[in-house]
Amino acid sequence: MMVYINNRIIPVEEAAISPFDRGFLFADGVYESIRTYNKKLFRHGDHIDRLKRSLKETKINFDGLSSIENILYELIKKNNIEKEALVYLQITRGTAFPRAHSFPKEKTTPTLFISVKEFKEDNDEQAKGVKVILQEDVRWLRCDIKSTSLLPVVLASQKASEEGAAEAIFMRDGLITEGTHTNFFAVKNETVYTAPRSRLILDGITRRIVLEFCEKFKIDFKEEFINKDDLKNFTEFFITSTTKEITPVVQIDYWSVNDEKPGKITLSLQSVFKKITEDY
Ligand code: PDD
Repeated sequence: MMVYINNRIIPVEEAAISPFDRGFLFADGVYESIRTYNKKLFRHGDHIDRLKRSLKETKINFDGLSSIENILYELIKKNNIEKEALVYLQITRGTAFPRAHSFPKEKTTPTLFISVKEFKEDNDEQAKGVKVILQEDVRWLRCDIKSTSLLPVVLASQKASEEGAAEAIFMRDGLITEGTHTNFFAVKNETVYTAPRSRLILDGITRRIVLEFCEKFKIDFKEEFINKDDLKNFTEFFITSTTKEITPVVQIDYWSVNDEKPGKITLSLQSVFKKITEDY
């Protein structure tokens, strides 16, 4: 495996960062995951804009993003990826010692790390739907920043995995926010609901696409929080992300939704998504 670290593409075994890298010490960094369709980076501009926003909000000064697209394609090529790729890109505030929480007084060079792997979506999950569990949202109050500080996500994902679920869905004060790495949607009376864009969720790019589809195909939608006690009034659920695309949710904790059959609106949104990505 070849990776990109600090201006060089090298074998992963040779890659090294300082133990004083602030990403290692404080999770003082931000990231993005981007995938390809037909070997083209999907919505690359949206991902880079979101990364720029995360950098701005965390006050990490990194200005090397203009040539990043070429580096990503080069890294995909160097890894001999035959089909589709998933790119992971992380930028930290860089290395400084001695360890101190506040920003280093001397200017640091941010660390840019990129890895790629071959990627194939899970068609079985997308056809049959998945189980999710509900978990208390114990993350910070800036979930709009794609920060590498992911311990609550690690713990909730582990719990989901132990319970045979594909995702953990967070709720804060009884209101559903989003999944550990997905946005959450519900459908009631032919209307699609999802949490509003705010500091409590990531402004998911797949989420945006779903709302674009709703506008285009005249499906009503509301950006409103759903109360967990109200879940049983909804008839369909799905999650969205770069890796999950549009995946139906057919079980929430011990509740089998609609005899565990994916919903009609979910499947129609999924088929439009398939079409645009096949033609991308
Ligand atoms: N996760 N919400 C959270 C908390 C996420 O981490 C993600 C993305 C999403 C969906 O965003 P998008 O549609 O832009 O992928 C929502 C990526 C896939 C990850 O964790 O690698």
